[in-house]
Amino acid sequence: MKKFYITTPIYYPSDNLHIGHTYTTVAADTLKKFKKAQGYDAYLVTGSDEHGQKIQEKAQENHMEPKEYVDGIVKDIKKLWRMLEIDYDEFIRTTDEHHEKGVQKVFEKLYKQGDIYKSNYEGLYCTPCESFWAESQLVDGKCPDCGREVHLTKEEAYFFKLSKYRDRIIELYKENPEFLQPESRKNEMINNFLKEGLEDLCVSRTSFNWGIKVPFDPKHVVYVWIDALLCYITALGYGTENDEKFKKYWPADVHLVGKEIVRFHTIIWPAVLMALDIELPTKVFGHGWILFEDDKMSKSKGNVIYPEPLIELYGIDAFKYFLLREFSFGQDGSFSREKFFQRLNSDLANDLGNLVSRTVTMVEKYNEGILQAPVKEEEIDKSLIEVAVNAKAKVEENMDKLNYSQALEEIWKIIRRTNKYIDETTPWILAKEDKERLNTVLYNLTESIRIIAILINPFMEATSKEILKQIGLEANINWADSKEWGKIEVGTKVEKGEVLFPRLDIEKELIRHNKANEKLIEERINRKAMKEEKAEPEEIKEEFITIDDFAKIEFKVAEIIEAKDHPKADKLLILKLKVGEEIRQVVSGIKEYYSPEDLVGKKVVIVANLKPIKLRGEESKGMILAAEKDGKITLVSTLEDIDSGATIS
Ligand code: MSP
Repeated sequence: MKKFYITTPIYYPSDNLHIGHTYTTVAADTLKKFKKAQGYDAYLVTGSDEHGQKIQEKAQENHMEPKEYVDGIVKDIKKLWRMLEIDYDEFIRTTDEHHEKGVQKVFEKLYKQGDIYKSNYEGLYCTPCESFWAESQLVDGKCPDCGREVHLTKEEAYFFKLSKYRDRIIELYKENPEFLQPESRKNEMINNFLKEGLEDLCVSRTSFNWGIKVPFDPKHVVYVWIDALLCYITALGYGTENDEKFKKYWPADVHLVGKEIVRFHTIIWPAVLMALDIELPTKVFGHGWILFEDDKMSKSKGNVIYPEPLIELYGIDAFKYFLLREFSFGQDGSFSREKFFQRLNSDLANDLGNLVSRTVTMVEKYNEGILQAPVKEEEIDKSLIEVAVNAKAKVEENMDKLNYSQALEEIWKIIRRTNKYIDETTPWILAKEDKERLNTVLYNLTESIRIIAILINPFMEATSKEILKQIGLEANINWADSKEWGKIEVGTKVEKGEVLFPRLDIEKELIRHNKANEKLIEERINRKAMKEEKAEPEEIKEEFITIDDFAKIEFKVAEIIEAKDHPKADKLLILKLKVGEEIRQVVSGIKEYYSPEDLVGKKVVIVANLKPIKLRGEESKGMILAAEKDGKITLVSTLEDIDSGATIS
């Protein structure tokens, strides 16, 4: 069996994966299903890119160890892929031991053979922030993060001889036009990066330590992109004794990536592979971005569309269909709810859903659900049959170019042609006038639906199976059967099932979806605010603590004497508390549930000896306790009134 190795990028662990993020993975998964249907041994790798300074800082903000922090998020990412029924074969984490060892081996090999060398990284450095900045990044000549002076500094670092590979990369693009697609991205790489000549790449850092250590110089950690790109081969066991998969599946037949990371995949990655003397991937495809109403989706703009509400309300198949049909894979596209609902109504409910339901209803009504022999053919049948049996080749041709949208359009051409065939042949009149012709028309309709069901299978598995069930067939898909006419047996019994895609009232759905999406946005912001405030890992809930652990916590009654909005955060309140004689400030993520006026004078319970932290620039000394269930939150207080400062044990 011929292999086909597909990868998605190795995702940054983020608790904010939106529909744009699901795009690459849905496309990769569909391609895998498609290749499998065609008889390939298709293998799909995805994973998580967990090292680096940003992650280290995020973990610190959450008062967690980096590994503990990423473990929680990776769980959520996997949950999302499960929800979308992504059929990956390997989920590689950059924190996996065998990956880390593999990266170290590669680094050492490249160092020994002279492709990596030690030198100094020179740049403008902000000491308090431990960061290098490019001149263009400075704000008024100062550090863009903290506004302090920067100094020209040298840091010892390892470099990869990227410059050495420039000509070979240009050659690669020329000799293998398929290597980088779509074409426009190639010009971008040549004009923006390769033309001017490549500089060697700094591949180690010493300013933070959350990364894979350079084995022979452990104060350095390996640059995250080198670390992450190598996942594509370590996921297959490269560098271990167990490397059969590497031998079997490498080189990748396609790396699917978003356009902003094409540069890493088509300049750095081939250069590293050349240095390692490993075969190059066949293709890198840089797809476009999904924007929200022409704007970049971002949490701070509040315009993020999350996949979960769309999937929960309208199903996986509708979600995937929309993503792959609406946008042209190589280009940017703009999501809008209106477009989503319109597509669902026109393509799925009207075209596909109606075709299946009308056909099955007619076979049940006129022939007690049994398909009769097609004995009376007419000229018009030929045009239907031609469209149906020729679709497979057109779908394949488009999928070879990763043109998902056109591949689906080719299937919809049969759907629309078949609907038109109903109008042209008017079975309801034939039922009264010409039984033999009626039987032929109903047979042809069902046969066309069978072909449609096979062709949509890689894109919409559940829908495909449901359609096959309704026309009395087993869900065993044989891809090759989609170009054969006359496969369905006379005597097959059809049976009406559930409505495939109900027609939606767009006005109503706009509101319903908006509400569900907004709720999720709020929940995620809250979860973050509560986490920041709690400064405790969630996992602790599941573990037992000893009485000694408990004794470490000082609970006290506190009176709120002042409350006001946090000037820099929408969800936070700044509270002045009286705890016995002491007055202290606590920042709390309860703004959504309490207005400042309601709080003044209330007595609450606090954790008094929590390490003070700054939340968006405001000191918070202690934590107010609150009870939470199903999104409802109430502050904890004592049953009877008691003076502030009272201890709780
Ligand atoms: N960690 C790197 C990849 C390393 S691969 C060796 C990374 N991760 S990511 O989590 O930021 O992105 C994962 C994928 O999501 C990328 O393909 C990226 O292009 C894609 N998308 C993120 N936002 C997107 C849209 N709004 N639209 C379409 N895809 C976008 O990059």
